[in-house]
This record gives sequence, C-alpha cells and structure tokens, in this order.
Amino acid sequence: MMPTIKNLKVMKDGENVSLILWVQTIRNMGKISFISARDGTGEVQVVVKKSTKGFEFVDDLSIESAIMVKALIKKDERSKNGIELQAQELTVLNKSSNEYPIQPKEHSAAFLLENRHLWIRTPKQAAVLRIRSTIEVEAQNWLDSQGYYRVDSPILTPNACEGTTTLFNLEYFEQEAYLSQSGQLYNEAHALALGKVYCFGPTFRAEKSKTRKHLTEFWMLEPEAVGLDLNGLLEIQENLFVSLVKKVLEKNSDDLDTLKRDTSKLKKIKAPFPRIHYVEALKILEKLNFKVKFGSDFGSEHEEALAEHVNHPFFITNFPSACKAFYMAIDPEDERLTLSVDLLAPEGGGEITGGAVRIADPVLLLEKIKEEGLDPKVFSWYHDLRKYGGVQTAGFGMGLERMVRWVTGIHHVRATIPFPRTIDRISP
Ligand code: 4AD
Ligand code: MG
Repeated sequence: MMPTIKNLKVMKDGENVSLILWVQTIRNMGKISFISARDGTGEVQVVVKKSTKGFEFVDDLSIESAIMVKALIKKDERSKNGIELQAQELTVLNKSSNEYPIQPKEHSAAFLLENRHLWIRTPKQAAVLRIRSTIEVEAQNWLDSQGYYRVDSPILTPNACEGTTTLFNLEYFEQEAYLSQSGQLYNEAHALALGKVYCFGPTFRAEKSKTRKHLTEFWMLEPEAVGLDLNGLLEIQENLFVSLVKKVLEKNSDDLDTLKRDTSKLKKIKAPFPRIHYVEALKILEKLNFKVKFGSDFGSEHEEALAEHVNHPFFITNFPSACKAFYMAIDPEDERLTLSVDLLAPEGGGEITGGAVRIADPVLLLEKIKEEGLDPKVFSWYHDLRKYGGVQTAGFGMGLERMVRWVTGIHHVRATIPFPRTIDRISP
C-alpha cells in the first residue's frame, strides 16, 4: 500500500518513498523549487532540483494539482513535521485548473459553504474532520470495551420520538412516514433483547433554528441499557466524555494545533462532573439575575450563564416533565420532575447530550402517549415492550457534531460535518 505523509514520521532518514500529493504552494528559485503539499494526513515540503526527473513540470503546477513523487526522506528538524522529501522523480497526475476556487485569502462563509466539496481539503476543515473521525471511532471502541452491542435503528419511521413540531415527513407509498429524530424508541427494544446497546446514525430535525448549534441532519450516538438508574446514566456519560477528550488529545494533537484550540481547557476535564439539580439551577440563575419559571426549559443564554458559572462540563438533572419528552420516568421525589439529564459544556458548547430513565409502567406510558396527542396505535409496539418482560431502561443521545464543535472550538456546527444540512442549505 502507498504510504501517507503521516507514515513518514516512523520512516528512516534516506529511505525511498512514493507518495500521491496535492500541491499547496510553490516557491520557485530557478535551479531548485520547494513545493508544500498535502495528502489529507498531513503536509510535507518537497524539494525539487534541476536534476530531478520531471523538474520541467514544476513551473506549470497550480494549487491542488495532483502529483506523484518518488523521493528520499530527509530528516530535518527545521521543517514542520521534522521531515523533508528530496524528489527524485515528479509525475503530474492531474493538473488542476488554474481557477481553483479556494485561494489563500478571505472568502465569505456562503462562498465556502457553496464550495464545501473543495473547502474540506483546507487544513482547518480537514483537521476538524480527522477529529470527528477519532470521536466516532473511539466512542464505539469505548462502548465496546464496556460490553455494549452496536445495533442500528431505522431511519424511516411511522412515529415521532422527540415531539411532532420538528418532524420531516414524507410519503411512504400509501402511508405517511417520518425521518427518524432519534433511534431511542427502537433502542429500548434492542436493550430488552441484548442488554446493553448503542446505535449510531443520522437523525433529522425540521428545526427552524438558525443557531450555531443546529443542523437539520446530524449524527447521534445513543447508548441504552437495562438496569441503569439516573446515577449510572451520568457515570457512563462522563466516562465516555473523558475518554473521548483523552483520545483526541492523544491522536489529534497536530490537528488541535492547526485549529489553535486551547488544549489546557481540554486537559483539565475530569470525572465526576458537577451535577446540578433543575431546582438548584433555577436558584443559581436567579442569583445571576435570570428569571426562569419553574417548568420551563433553559434557553441558550441560561445554559451559557450556568456553564460559565461551573467552568467545566456538567450535568443538569431532573428536568420538569412539562418541558421534556413523553417517555421520561417520573422522579419519585417530586412528581413534577423527571429522571432526566443534559450534559452541557463550557466555552459556548451548550447541550452535548440529553438522556433519561424511561417510563417502565405500561399504564402510565399509555397516558403520556395520549397526553402528548400521539396515536396509541402507532406506538403499540413500543407499549408492548412494557407488557412483555419490560424492565426499566435508561439511555442518552450524544450529538456528534455538538461534541466535535466543543472539542475543536469551531464556531459553527456546520463545519463539523462534511456536508451540512441546515434550514437554508441542502447542497452540495
Ligand atoms: O436531547 P435530544 O433531543 O435527545 C434525544 O433525541 C433522545 N431521544 C436521545 C436518547 O435519549 N437516546 O438530542 C440528543 C442530542 C442533544 O443533546 C444534542 O447534542 C444533539 O442531540 N442535537 C442536535 N445536534 C445538532 N443539531 C440539532 N438540531 C440537534 N438536536 C439535538
Ligand atoms: Mg435535549
């Protein structure tokens, strides 16, 4: 297999390599040229001399031209990754058109989004996508190490999960169907079949929100397990969170560098995370001069004020049932509240996960389904889970892009997914 720039680090001085690279900049000094090139795993400087086979092509190269380079590795402490390539032969695989849209200058956000298929090649965007990859892979590795099975919930569904106001509906032959808002309801069936499970896939919200945290298509990691109480649910979340931050620090230090992320903040993260009961959160907010009525959900200004107050990822627990989903178990200590939790991050990260213990009682569940104005017929399979050996399950959903946004410190969530879908964008 062809090596990549990343592989060069472990190779020896004087070794021969062949690489496929894309030209970033060219400094032509007459008898010698310096090409800075990328391949998606890193950047490297290629030195092309007059004696190099193919030297004559250098003059004609443009940004993003694809080249094949046969070269000798030269360890060089002054260069970015400690390595320089001394080209012996250069072949042009594809001479990029001279009007490459993305130039080393300021472009508007709209222009970059329009050219997202090319924008993802630039250093910062590629760094974010590599960190996203680490989080996707390591989250699954961690859950696997804890005995969770991966299952997959359907995307085409006949029912709502997170409220009917944000459903994307579509015609499904003679029937109405929806794009999944969350794999959770199916995950409860999975958990009763396999014990500890997680699903991980795209979810959809027809949310009219134009914020830096909302996408209409986003990926959610959703663990669900039997025999888990609220406390256990919090522990899983903080342990997963800590392990993800640690893995990104280990595997993506160059990328965090490229993004100029303040890693001192990431290095300080440790479990257990502070836990704030909903009622206590109301009191803290009151002291900070915010008035939130009992029963209301928190807006982003409240989340930010609380996050600044705590200055570490933290949990808010026991939200009122008035502002949360129909399936959440009632708090035995206060029947106005639920056994629910959100994990919030500082530095404007906002809500990263949302979860709850689920209602186990079939009678109560049916009441809640009706109260919510949902059709009990459509939920009969979900209700069955309580009728046949149903025991309490609990779980949560982590918004992948919210997590990536916070870890990378990227301003807008749309840069954390290769091809963002938002209220005003579905292309490219
Ligand atoms: O809090 P949410 O709506 O919870 C659920 O869907 C549960 N059924 C999950 C479960 O218990 N299995 O969404 C979970 C997370 C949020 O905390 C947030 O990180 C992310 O999904 N999220 C979004 N991310 C980007 N754009 C949006 N529009 C999002 N809506 C939710
Ligand atoms: Mg939520």
